[in-house]
Amino acid sequence: MAGLDDVVAADTVLSDVDGANGRLVIRGYALQEIAGRVTFEAAAHLLLDGLLEDLPDPAEFPRRLGLARAEVFEHVAALDSGLAACPPVDAVRALMARLPDGEDLGCALRLIAAPAVFAAAVTRIRRGERALAPDPLLSHAADVLRMTTGAAPGPARTAALDAYLVTIVDHGLNASTFAARVTASTLAGLTSAVLAGLSALKGPLHGGAPGPVIEMLDEIGSPDRATAWLEAALDRGERLMGFGHRIYRVRDPRADCLKHAVQALAASSPQLPGRIALAEAVEAAAIDILRRRKPDRPLQTNVEFYTAVLLEALGFPPDAFTCIFAMGRVAGWIAHAREQVLSGRLIRPKSRYVGPAPRRAA
Ligand code: ACO
Repeated sequence: MAGLDDVVAADTVLSDVDGANGRLVIRGYALQEIAGRVTFEAAAHLLLDGLLEDLPDPAEFPRRLGLARAEVFEHVAALDSGLAACPPVDAVRALMARLPDGEDLGCALRLIAAPAVFAAAVTRIRRGERALAPDPLLSHAADVLRMTTGAAPGPARTAALDAYLVTIVDHGLNASTFAARVTASTLAGLTSAVLAGLSALKGPLHGGAPGPVIEMLDEIGSPDRATAWLEAALDRGERLMGFGHRIYRVRDPRADCLKHAVQALAASSPQLPGRIALAEAVEAAAIDILRRRKPDRPLQTNVEFYTAVLLEALGFPPDAFTCIFAMGRVAGWIAHAREQVLSGRLIRPKSRYVGPAPRRAA
């Protein structure tokens, strides 16, 4: 019961995670059909279709999302030094909590725009730089890269970020999506549902893992040190970040999409091929060690391992990786929240009381 393994808590048309065969379907498309082939806006539109009144058509949606980025940028003024000193995901969450709650298209667009705009602003302000206003005419991925780095990204970097955002846009009833659906089921509103999702996402067992993956790669340093480092970490009782999954019993299909995306960038940076080679060596050693040490539990690479390598290559700081995850997953949270409101009931399971029998108060 603990962990609700195998409990089906919702019917959804949004995505299907086949853990035995390592397949992910997003609204009728195998992940490999869309990741690396469509933009984030197209994937978000695919999820939201039929769930929001007045949803613009796919050609108009990117422009409306661009306008929403410009609209939410005004809240960056509320980013004071205290907030900027918090972990980026906490600062982004605090800024998102300023957005009004609701169930309408405008609310949904602002929430999809917000992690992108706020994460870029928080990243720059923490580096002592000025936050850059959005350019509503750019694609979402291109604008995120421009707002973060200050330079217009080339098509390869934009395509790599689109591939990432599409790969992680939705994934069944994962912990953050469940949190969002529970909150939506009380009719609290989309902002509340998204804040619940973001709060669940930040933990290291969920979307907080890729930052520690970078720490692991940095500490290992070279392929020949991988096995000894990983063995020592397991001897200390630690988990290897980027490995294992509640549902997948085989390799997470998202890992390969992200590996392809980072390999496509390899020519653009002299350091990247070496970093990829290190990651591949660590991955191979980790799978081998986990197979030996946990023979009863198939533990394979999950989405977070190559997420770390890709987001690092795109210039995002590791402490902001969870915010970049939220940039994509926010579309899934909103689609699930709307699906819950339109077709679900209040989610209210029971607990089993295992405390003391009733007694007299002293
Ligand atoms: N490293 C070492 N051992 C592991 C790992 C790991 N990464 N993952 C699971 N195990 C072991 C556990 O210690 C446990 O062993 P035991 O039975 O001897 O105690 C066994 O495998 C089963 O572990 P559970 O905790 O029951 O597995 P669960 O399904 O709850 O965990 C999880 C899934 C949380 C992802 C886990 O694999 C983990 O902690 N991985 C590392 C963190 C990580 O990469 N998180 C990102 C997940 S992807 C995502 O959320 C987007």
